Amino acid sequence: MQAIVKHISLALAATLVAALAGLLVTSTGFAQGTARLDEASLDRRLAAVLHEHGFSGRVEETLAKRLGRPVDRRLADLGRLLWFDTITGLNNDNTCAGCHSPTNGFGDTQSIAIGIDNNGVVGPHRAGPRNMRRTPMAANTAFYPRLMWNSRFASLSGDPFDNHAGFVFPAPEGLSLSYEPHLLVAQAFIPPTERTEAAGFHFPGDNAAIRAEALRRLNGVPAYRKLFRQSFPDAKPGAPITFDQFGRAIAEFEFSLTFANAPIDRYARGDKNALTEDEKRGALLFFGKARCVQCHAVAGQSNEMFSDFQEHVIGVPQVAPRVTNNTFDGPGLNEDFGQEQVTGDAKDRYKFRTSPLRNIAVQPTFMHNGAFTSLDDAVRHHLDVFASARGYRPDQAGLAADLAGPTGPIEPVLARVDPILARPIDLTAEEFRQLVAFVRHGLLDPRATPEQLRKLIPPAVPSSRPTLSFEPP
Ligand code: HEC
Ligand code: HEC
Repeated sequence: MQAIVKHISLALAATLVAALAGLLVTSTGFAQGTARLDEASLDRRLAAVLHEHGFSGRVEETLAKRLGRPVDRRLADLGRLLWFDTITGLNNDNTCAGCHSPTNGFGDTQSIAIGIDNNGVVGPHRAGPRNMRRTPMAANTAFYPRLMWNSRFASLSGDPFDNHAGFVFPAPEGLSLSYEPHLLVAQAFIPPTERTEAAGFHFPGDNAAIRAEALRRLNGVPAYRKLFRQSFPDAKPGAPITFDQFGRAIAEFEFSLTFANAPIDRYARGDKNALTEDEKRGALLFFGKARCVQCHAVAGQSNEMFSDFQEHVIGVPQVAPRVTNNTFDGPGLNEDFGQEQVTGDAKDRYKFRTSPLRNIAVQPTFMHNGAFTSLDDAVRHHLDVFASARGYRPDQAGLAADLAGPTGPIEPVLARVDPILARPIDLTAEEFRQLVAFVRHGLLDPRATPEQLRKLIPPAVPSSRPTLSFEPP
């Protein structure tokens, strides 16, 4: 009897299991099965694509090796204090951090930078006469072989850590800073001498005189003399602070702003869960059909920074400020000729360096003039640059009021658009969403977020000058 009952219940259980299995196969179980299969093949394809493009996800690890030493934390901290101190700004109202703000990856809070004669605020409510371009993020610049929107500061070896072929700057510096150990040390010589950025128009004299005055000020602060002496123990006792030392400290701080461990890096190193399925599909689009990688390159000299560090015309609307202390290009003084300013060659007109895309999610505005105020719009522009540029309305683009006036001419720009973007890129709404998800989340190192970087704002600076006022989140 017991045996029969057992038999029946077993039979019942078997039918139940079969029925359940049938249910599962026809509904969720089946779908889940294919999704898992799909994701496995998605992972295989993405891993292959990353490999093919030479993307290792390990560029951050190369920093110490290429420097030949670890980052010097004490020197970086001195650089940080200088970054936030207006003492080297001869106009007394600006310093690196006024434009390269920790609230935005050490990039701009604005569409177009505001330098001297500002209102003391760093954030959306910063006001004052505009310079010419948006401030790029200083994070990860240790790996950039060419600096600036028109690459006017460059390491001729193609490697910012290698000065053997020289570091080239426009006149008057030319090749004279090539003895410095890294392109960023050389670059630090420039901002304090820029009249509209920090120096102002009142101080007479050339770049050397401006630097001498900045040093005179630094040497007058015992706290700075002590800090420099600690970081440069080999200098002769009592010797004054030099501009080489200033540059080394600033560059060291920039080295410490290396945030190149994003989900895409962890994924490339084997963590298949670092990206969501949407982001993986977005990545495949980025490296394939959407053509992004053709300019936002990761191979070779790009150091996995998502830029070929070459200039292209991509038809960005020519936003022009109402009040500027720079001189814009063109007959209407409302244009930016980009790389032509460096090469003097009209073929290079309207060309700008491909933006490196790491940590792009923390930027409030996009492109060399902040013409777009959302990442979606910046990416969408690429899909059909002609339609985007011709349909652009500065008063509806989310720009600050003083930038929302008439734009410069667009047809001469569109006549030169890079062949890679001359045909529209066809994406479905879903593909577009996946592509943006990848660019926004897949490239963001969590250490680059405003919450993290705000911690680097010093409560006070060695000169005892008032600190800049960063707007709260
Ligand atoms: C007035 C705002 C302003 C100040 C102050 C300023 N910068 Fe910049 N910075 C910019 C702008 C704008 C650019 C891009 C200019 C261009 O391409 O023409 C830039 C570019 C750079 C770049 C190149 C980034 C890249 O992506 O190639 C570095 C590095 C840099 N600045 C470092 C500094 C340092 C160091 C200081 C302080 C010593 C400083 N900046 C002060 C606005 C500023
Ligand atoms: C023909 C080369 C080229 C291609 C292809 C290209 N870009 Fe760009 N991209 C650029 C250049 C050049 C800029 C900077 C233009 C400027 O500011 O004038 C830029 C800017 C951007 C920006 C704004 C970055 C910033 O710092 O403000 C984003 C985001 C971007 N590209 C994403 C993409 C995506 C996503 C794709 C693929 C759909 C793509 N790009 C395809 C050349 C290209």
